[in-house]
Amino acid sequence: MTQHDLIVIGGGPGGYVAAIRAAELGLNVACVETEPLLGGTCLRVGCIPSKAMLESSEKYFEAKHGYDAHGITLGSVKLQLDVMLQRKQSIVEQMSKGIDGLFKKHKVTRYLGKGRLDGPGRVLVEAGDKTIELAADKIILATGSAPASLRGIELDGDRIGSSTEALSYEKVPKHLVVIGGGYIGMELGSVWNRLGSQVTVLEYLDRIFPGTDSELAKEALEIFKKQGIEFRLGTKVTAARVEKKTCIVECEGHEPITCDRVLVAVGRTPYTAGLGLESVGIELDSKGRIPTKNHFETSAAGVYAIGDVIAGPMLAHKAEHEGVACVEQIVTGYGHINYDVIPAVIFTDPEIAAVGKTEDQLREEKIPYVKGSFAFRYNGRAVTIAQTLGKVKVLTHAKTDRVLGIHILGPHAGDLIAEATAAMEFGASSEDIARVCHAHPTLPETLKEAAIAAYRQVEAAAKKK
Ligand code: NAI
Repeated sequence: MTQHDLIVIGGGPGGYVAAIRAAELGLNVACVETEPLLGGTCLRVGCIPSKAMLESSEKYFEAKHGYDAHGITLGSVKLQLDVMLQRKQSIVEQMSKGIDGLFKKHKVTRYLGKGRLDGPGRVLVEAGDKTIELAADKIILATGSAPASLRGIELDGDRIGSSTEALSYEKVPKHLVVIGGGYIGMELGSVWNRLGSQVTVLEYLDRIFPGTDSELAKEALEIFKKQGIEFRLGTKVTAARVEKKTCIVECEGHEPITCDRVLVAVGRTPYTAGLGLESVGIELDSKGRIPTKNHFETSAAGVYAIGDVIAGPMLAHKAEHEGVACVEQIVTGYGHINYDVIPAVIFTDPEIAAVGKTEDQLREEKIPYVKGSFAFRYNGRAVTIAQTLGKVKVLTHAKTDRVLGIHILGPHAGDLIAEATAAMEFGASSEDIARVCHAHPTLPETLKEAAIAAYRQVEAAAKKK
């Protein structure tokens, strides 16, 4: 039996970041990961490969349609999908090697195999035909999540698949049906739409991106429609199957749809299968998540859980953040996360990014707020780069002016949200943001303008009193 101070099960953004931080703080750390490539869903089959495909497909689309207005005429534009897919894969491998390098640098011991709890303080690693026995006082569970499916749908790992398959179709589908108008559905639906597929999104609700700001989601929907994506909202999918290479998708109240590929993107479920939770008495909650108390400790002393297997948004940066806070709490007794200020980004074109509360939440919670908006079409930089769709919304407390939420639909929203997040983390008011000197002409000026629009209202209300 090999003894470590800390064993982390799972080598994704939660697990590998926790392992490295623990090693930095002087612990003897092991990280157990089933896949040869470290980095988890995010790096292997999630955030990173999807962003590579989003970038490549955007370039292709732009080369075909976006240069004329600049006075640039291109010859024939040809898609080499195999090269695009190869580029994506090499990015994944390069980034994963980077984590291997960090593990070596920080002397984190890596075990390749499936890890499971085997009673208090013990972990077994199934590595091929060998079982490795490990022991540690502290264990962090960071096993992430897996794509959810729907009853009546047979995921065949090919024609009817999840985001994993949709990142690697070897041919551009003629007609791709996407089930679920959430993050994955819209990002990967956009990729294949740009590469030439007819894309139909079937969404159960009467809107896309549930949980995000409804005004911006509505605006985004209209933009995606203009990009050629077809939507059927309020549509409940009941079955999908493959017959002789043709997919048939059945929905309530509609004729069945035939297509050549189906992407099922209806959410993800925490991945806890075979983790040996029963050996330490951990019971899952009603959503299949591992319940944690303060500071990430589970009901089993010395066993902690972070990332997609616990409550909260399934976002890589939330998992990373938890990994660091959990380890710092274990080693130093301090470690904290401000869950009110976790940004989220959807990498469509335009991007959508948000931090803090939505208007819908503020209304529900009866918090008095004012809204300052600024449209990208009035921003000099946005006009020069010909990306004028969307707006920035600053929501601020009507009395105190403390910023409660910032929502952006527009070019580089994913980068712009960093300033908004930093401002909120420091407890900024809209006046604070409005008084920061922003370089001209740049996209972040939109945030400043939206903050000014909010602050003017708070100021006017205060003067009336
Ligand atoms: P999601 O929760 O974002 O969207 C799932 C959608 O499927 C919802 O709109 C839901 O109403 C719909 N749906 C559920 N059942 C349905 C049915 N029977 N018929 C039609 N529609 C149905 O989940 P998604 O897109 O699968 O993403 C999973 C997770 O991965 C999310 O929690 C997200 O946070 C994360 N993610 C984050 C990304 C980012 O940060 N950019 C990118 C991709 C995923």
